[in-house]
Amino acid sequence: MCGIVGFVGQEQAAPILLDGLEKLEYRGYDSAGIAVLSESKGLQVKKAKGRLQVLRGLTGDGRDVEGTLGIGHTRWATHGEPSDLNSHPHLSSGHRIAVVHNGIIENYVEIREFLQSQGIPFQSETDTEVVAQLLEYYYDRCGDIMASVYRVLARIEGAYALGILCRDLPDAFIAARKDAPLLLGYGQGCSFIASDVTAIIKHTREVAYMEDGEVALVKAGGIQVFNAMGQPVEKEHHTVDWDVSAAEKGGFPHFMLKEIMEQPEAVRKTVSPRLKDGRVHFEELKLTAEDIRSFSRFFIVACGSSYHVGMVGKYNLERLLRRPVDVMLASEFRYADPLVDEHTLVIFISQSGETLDTMAALRRAKALGARTLAIVNVVGSSIAREADQVLYTWAGPEIAVATTKAYSTQLVLLDMLGLFFAQALGSVEEEEYARIVSELQALPAKMETVLADTERIKYLASRYFNHSSIFFIGRNLDYALGLEGSLKLKEISYIHSEAYAAGELKHGTISLIEKGTLVVALCCYAPLFEKSVSNIVEVKARGADILAVTTESLAAELGKTAENVLPVPDTHLLLQPSLGVLPLQIFAYYVALQRGCDIDKPRNLAKSVTVE
Ligand code: G6P
Repeated sequence: MCGIVGFVGQEQAAPILLDGLEKLEYRGYDSAGIAVLSESKGLQVKKAKGRLQVLRGLTGDGRDVEGTLGIGHTRWATHGEPSDLNSHPHLSSGHRIAVVHNGIIENYVEIREFLQSQGIPFQSETDTEVVAQLLEYYYDRCGDIMASVYRVLARIEGAYALGILCRDLPDAFIAARKDAPLLLGYGQGCSFIASDVTAIIKHTREVAYMEDGEVALVKAGGIQVFNAMGQPVEKEHHTVDWDVSAAEKGGFPHFMLKEIMEQPEAVRKTVSPRLKDGRVHFEELKLTAEDIRSFSRFFIVACGSSYHVGMVGKYNLERLLRRPVDVMLASEFRYADPLVDEHTLVIFISQSGETLDTMAALRRAKALGARTLAIVNVVGSSIAREADQVLYTWAGPEIAVATTKAYSTQLVLLDMLGLFFAQALGSVEEEEYARIVSELQALPAKMETVLADTERIKYLASRYFNHSSIFFIGRNLDYALGLEGSLKLKEISYIHSEAYAAGELKHGTISLIEKGTLVVALCCYAPLFEKSVSNIVEVKARGADILAVTTESLAAELGKTAENVLPVPDTHLLLQPSLGVLPLQIFAYYVALQRGCDIDKPRNLAKSVTVE
């Protein structure tokens, strides 16, 4: 969580930093701040609790802050409540050093106690302040800022992306990274650092990804990078293949709606390049058929919506591969004793590629000798770089905290991976394979038809938006789908919601159903359609209202039992969740809109969760 950005060049820094922070607000938005260095004004720090807008007001959109060198931060609080004092940047007590930080310094208490015993006063409750104070402490003693940074890095434990300004360094700032994302941007006569490329894409598409242990000295004329031993490192430059328009709203009121509508195109981009002559090809995978046959077991490990993709994946991969597939939350996997070895492939799914629990689970799987493959959206992210193999979803930047297009692209990519493996294992009939491939090709167009007319969903949202509790039920793939539908609704609308395997409801949760309770019944999984209808009848008997999502071919039949039926086009059974999820996303969006919620930035959440 937290976003950081840094700029040094010829132009005024503050407006550029604020623009960058606006793009990073998805990472945290409870407070924001900047530190800018200028010859006449020295080291100026402006920071405030609340959204970036507050900081904009405080600084005249940055125009009031003089200087062409600065760092900025948008915060998702971990240590210390959101407040002006706890906001970054943090200043050393001698006001010579300012620090922005993303991550957690785990041994901050011990360092703070040491510094306090030396008479150094602390202003905030944050872990970050120790970095600023310790840095000044060493700097006072050795007079060399780079040497002091190295001493600090040797002393602190935990995860960090750091941006450091020193009053005595008038033409550069320093960056360092360990287990938190940080990239370098190379502009024309200017240089940047950022947690994510969206913050700087307006200015440059040429970037390099910092590695753990590296320290960068960032100047307008260029960036010098050093490894953990202080030796210079040559960085490989990458050119980002999308531009600024991809990270803007483009006329939509919210990023979430824009991203919902972008799904057909995103899925097309994920699928098309990997289908050739009716076959799935993954040129980027370095796995032979023999490797695939050596996997006796699969794990899918992820968090949040990416985990829900894994839930769908378990059903689909087991069916296609006829091998055991376990799906586990990354936060559980990392501390469990999973039965993995060199014959296990652990598939990690992550939009951001930076989720700390997923990253830790990946390292654990590798340490246990498993083979690893990551499905990731953000190119060059930590998980993408550390996994043995990576498949990118190519969904483009996703800004809304609640994921939509990343979910959809992960889903199809996992289905394609299943097909690819099934072919190597000979576990799928040729005819079935061909049908899935042809439906994969047809999927974007079918998604477009669902998204073309959202009026009925909008109407249903207006009817149910003031409910305090909404349940989702479904069986098999519909159960996995319900988990995502329920999460989407609760995260952006703050309505209490639970998803249940339809057959399980009667073992407790049905006691919560009363007259008028809305139950969203997912009935896309045709083999269990009758069973699901029976469960609908059970909740209706207790007074529930039903909103059902089903396929066009089953809609008429379901209409006999359920009052509100939302049909989606038929496709291959395995791919049906890719269509079923769309009405659920749109319903969540319009419910949240009716309730006046901050849809793109729901309370207490962040898009990239880099804390445990
Ligand atoms: C956060 C986001 C979710 C996301 C989850 C996992 O909770 O709000 O949308 O599904 O993290 O993130 P990842 O980037 O690993 O997919």
